This record gives sequence, C-alpha cells and structure tokens, in this order.
Amino acid sequence: MNDFANFVAEEFVASTAESYPTAWSPDSWRAYPVQQLPTYDDTSHLADVESRLRRSPPLVFAGEVRILRRKLSEVAAGRGFLLQGGDCAESFAEFHADNIRDSLRVLLQMAVVLKFGAGVPVLKLGRMAGQFAKPRSSDVERQGDLELPSYRGDIVNGFDFTPAARRPDPERQIQAYSQAASTLNLLRAFTGGGYASLANMHKWNLDFVANSAQGARYEDLTTRISEALDFMAACGISDLTTPPMAHTTLYTSHEALLLGFEEAMTRTDSLSGGHYNTAAHFIWIGDRTRDPDGAHVEYMRGLDNPIGLKAGPSMTPDALLRLLDILDPRNEAGRMTLIVRMGHDKLAKHLPPLVRAVQREGRSVVWSCDPMHGNTVKAASGYKTRPFDRIMDEVESFFAVHHAEGTYPGGIHIEMTGQNVTECTGGAQAITDAALSDRYHTHCDPRLNAQQSLEVAFLLAEKLKTARQDRVANGLGAV
Ligand code: PEP
Ligand code: CO
Repeated sequence: MNDFANFVAEEFVASTAESYPTAWSPDSWRAYPVQQLPTYDDTSHLADVESRLRRSPPLVFAGEVRILRRKLSEVAAGRGFLLQGGDCAESFAEFHADNIRDSLRVLLQMAVVLKFGAGVPVLKLGRMAGQFAKPRSSDVERQGDLELPSYRGDIVNGFDFTPAARRPDPERQIQAYSQAASTLNLLRAFTGGGYASLANMHKWNLDFVANSAQGARYEDLTTRISEALDFMAACGISDLTTPPMAHTTLYTSHEALLLGFEEAMTRTDSLSGGHYNTAAHFIWIGDRTRDPDGAHVEYMRGLDNPIGLKAGPSMTPDALLRLLDILDPRNEAGRMTLIVRMGHDKLAKHLPPLVRAVQREGRSVVWSCDPMHGNTVKAASGYKTRPFDRIMDEVESFFAVHHAEGTYPGGIHIEMTGQNVTECTGGAQAITDAALSDRYHTHCDPRLNAQQSLEVAFLLAEKLKTARQDRVANGLGAV
C-alpha cells in the first residue's frame, strides 16, 4: 500500500529558510506576542524540562519529512488524496496499545475505500503520537465559586477540576514525549509488520458492511474491491509477492501549539542544513493562533516541515494571502495544506473567495476539509456534540465549491477514534442526544466512532468519483 513509491524515487530537498526577510531561529518566536500558552509558576523547572527535551532523540527523521512533503506536492497536483485523522486530544489515561491499534485500523480501512473511490494513492496522516496540547476559548474555568486555569491538554495540566490537577506542570511534557515515542514505535511496527495489509483492511471492511445497520448500502463498493483484489491475486499481485500490498506508511501530525516544547524538539538537519520539527512529520497552526504577527506563525515559518493552516469563517482572502507569503514565500508545492473548517452552513459563502484568491495568485496548496470544528453544538443533555448529517453536509459543500471553481478537493481532516464511543449524534447507528452519556469519553471535542468514520469514507468514495472525473476534465492528475 506504499503507493507513492513511484513518485518518490529520490528525496526531495527543500530549504526555504534562506529566503526569509528577517533572521529566524527556533526561538525567535519568543520576541513576538503569543496566545494560548499556559503560565508556569516554576520557570526553572520549565527550563530544565526544555533542556532535557533538546537532548532527547528526535521522534521522526528529516528524510521522512521530505518524502511526506514530496507526497503532498502530488496531492496538491491532484495525484493523491490526504486522509488526516485521530483524536482531538490524546490523553495519558487512555494510553493503551488497543486504542492505538483500533484508531490505526479504522484510518487504514477508510484509506482503502477512499483509494478505490479516488483512484489515486491515499496519504495517511494521524492526529496521533503527539496531539496533546489544546487551545481554549478562556484562560480560566469557573465552577461555582472556584476559578481555576482551563484544561489545556495532558501535556500541560490535568482534566480534573482541582487546583492540583489544573496547575500547569512542565514534567508533563516529558511524559507526552515518551508516550508519543511509544505510540509511534507501535504504529511503525503495525504498518511495517503486516498488520496493515490491504487484504486485512478489506476483510474488516467486509465485516463492517455485514454487521452495520446500513451496511447493505455499501455492499456494491466492497464487492467491486473484492473483485479487484481477486483479479490482482490472479495476476500474481498479493501480500506475498508485492510489498506495497502488505505494508503502508502512516505519518504523524499535531497542532504546534505549545511552542516551548516544539522549539525544544527542533533540530538542524545535517544533510540539508534545514530546520525540522522532529516531534511530528507534519504540524499545523490552529484557527486561534494564526495571527500573521504572532509567535506561532513566526515559529512555523522557519521550518522545513510541511505545514497545515486552519481556516475558519473569519479568514479573509487578504489574510490568507499574507499568511501564505510569510509561511511559503517561494510557493513550493507540498509546503502548505489549507484545512478549511467553516461550519456546514457557512462554507458555501466563505470558501469560494479564498479559493479564488489562491487561484489568482497561482499558489499551490492542498485543500483539505475539516468538517468537525465548525459543527460543534451543545446538545439538550448538555454534552458538546457534532451531528453526523452536518459533518456530511460540510463535506458535500466543500466538494461542490471545488467542483464549481475547477479546483481539486485534496483531503479530509477528521476527529475520530477506533473505539465505540457515543460522542457525535446520528449516523447509521442513529446515536441520539439521550444516548450521548453512554460512552462519552473524549477529553476535548466529540469524535466520530469507528462505524461513523467508516460511513464517512463510504459516502466520500462516491463524491471522489466526481472529483476524479473533474480532475481528468481539468487536465489535472496526469502522471
Ligand atoms: C483542533 O484541530 O483540535 C482544533 C482546535 O481546531 P481549530 O484550530 O480549527 O479550532
Ligand atoms: Co478538536
């Protein structure tokens, strides 16, 4: 399944650092206004933790990051599709091999279906192995008379509403690093060791279709995949003969929010001289920290990693172009992924002006749809949820805009888990508001469960067929 191999015959060395107007260093962000960072009361402990992280081995290798960037340039050109997914926030309490395995399995099952629909390689990017830090709408949370710092993710403080748990503790960064390292190790073992074979993933998809409430709807597609696999086996292409059928690659990503941690994990690559964040292959800037004059943008601009930029409904064409000038001054394909998260009822109005501005300026980007973050509502029961139909509405609207503009809808970004949680309402299991309390486990935003995630993939596969015809009609995607 490592199907980008053809396009990545050699490593792609990209160094953007020298063309920046002002000096950049991994710590230059410290001179800029910063949002969403916790206040640590023991600064010498913090400095000690950061120095230990600086001496710790990188989690990813710069060469892998360059290959990912090259693959993303293929996606930008319409010759691939990006699937990014995983937890809203990983937690220390839910750290378990089964959870990692199950989320990976669902992502890979989705990838098989999407690959069949899109007819191009699917690039898999986990919100895993380091997705810990969370932005919050307020620095503090009040319950009754007690006011405490907001929970900012397990890398910063604890979820329980007690003064001890909510105190930002630098030592948590070491635990997060170590959990990310173990998670990545297991992911590498699963993806390289045979668990992730195409045949296994397809078998699980057949189980899903056989056992889920509306599985019959997807039977036609799985039958066609079965036939394609049988045909390939008859031609001598199977797990045993063809490594890409047995192995795959999952890249890792997280929001680069806790800048002291990210700075400490930044290394200079001895081969290219470029600077890499080595805590993940891909990092993104959140919708709340994308101030072009702020610290997060300053930190990201000097890295050679591929970068995601969230774009919510308040993003204007001018702001977007300014950010692209800062983050990608040489307009290098594969550098920027724009992760659009407008809300199901806002996307049709807000996305077209952004797409037109990017087209007008001849910018190469991957357009990815995050149908989660603009569709969070409070259920009558008090739980934060996301209705499945609104998620699919936003996806539909995203594809419709790209169809109308003649541009390529290159990816999807979802919050999901392999566990059978009840956090998003709807889907074929018809999870109701009242059922949310059954298994509501998230530490942050509501995630799609395994069945809902697979449903998204099957529904999307249909839309990708249209995108595939558009791609040909628009002269994109020729290899
Ligand atoms: C997230 O991806 O978990 C997140 C906080 O997203 P956004 O920055 O788009 O709100
Ligand atoms: Co989230």
